Amino acid sequence: MTVLLGSDYMGKDDFILKAEGVYKSYRMGATEVKVLKGVDLTVKSGEFVAIVGASGSGKSTLLHILGALDSPDNGVVAFGGRDLSRFSGGELNRFRNKKVGFVFQFYHLLDELSVLENVFLPVMVSRSVVGWFACRRWAESRARELLVQLGLGERANHKPYQLSGGERQRVAIGRALMNEPRLLLVDEPTGNLDSATGNGILDVFEELNRAGQTIVMVTHDERIAQRAGRIITLVDGKIKN
Ligand SMILES: Nc1ncnc2c1ncn2[C@@H]1O[C@H](COP(=O)(O)OP(=O)(O)OP(=O)(O)O)[C@@H](O)[C@H]1O
Ligand SMILES: [Mg+2]
Repeated sequence: MTVLLGSDYMGKDDFILKAEGVYKSYRMGATEVKVLKGVDLTVKSGEFVAIVGASGSGKSTLLHILGALDSPDNGVVAFGGRDLSRFSGGELNRFRNKKVGFVFQFYHLLDELSVLENVFLPVMVSRSVVGWFACRRWAESRARELLVQLGLGERANHKPYQLSGGERQRVAIGRALMNEPRLLLVDEPTGNLDSATGNGILDVFEELNRAGQTIVMVTHDERIAQRAGRIITLVDGKIKN
């Protein structure tokens, strides 16, 4: 699988992602739920890392913070050597849209759009009307190519609701790869799939990783985590050593 990796943006060390002392709590009325209590982790460029932890241990919370979909109460997350909290609004938007690709547990595909349109959507939303007009052909052909690589070449004009769970997840992977992200963040990718279909999805991540894609995947399932190159465990709001 060809994944074109951007060449910009490397920090002084070879960590693509670094989290230090990350804290996050949620307030529910009078009670405060402390979810992350000082998470430290580093991910090198080209790694495939699994983060495992029980349900409710804060895996999704952590993944959202790593991808700047949420911010920590305390601590630092750095991407390519740069502290995310120092990014301007425009830089953050570019980071979320172009530097990271998200694969969510429940796919989050748009049923009104075709499979092809779902895949090229991240390019469409990151361009002005004129900009989109200029790159539409390129975007469509990249989206088609990704669908072929993901074994969905024949499904481009279907709607997501006409696909199986495993096919939907592959569409979501295609969408996440559309902007050639430096980092793929994956949340419980097989949670809704039978084990054979889930293994097929893991094959896709392995192949992407062999081609150089950096992946951070969270899962509660140890067996799924075994497919990654390195496993780190989240317990009591911290990474267990
Ligand atoms: N927006 C929120 N408001 C209040 N509490 C929240 C919020 N989001 C998450 N939590 C709480 O934080 C804790 C961690 O949630 P999180 O979704 O990160 O867990 P998880 O490890 O991803 O679990 P799962 O394996 O079930 O997906 C849970 O106790 C949850 O109830
Ligand atoms: Mg979760």
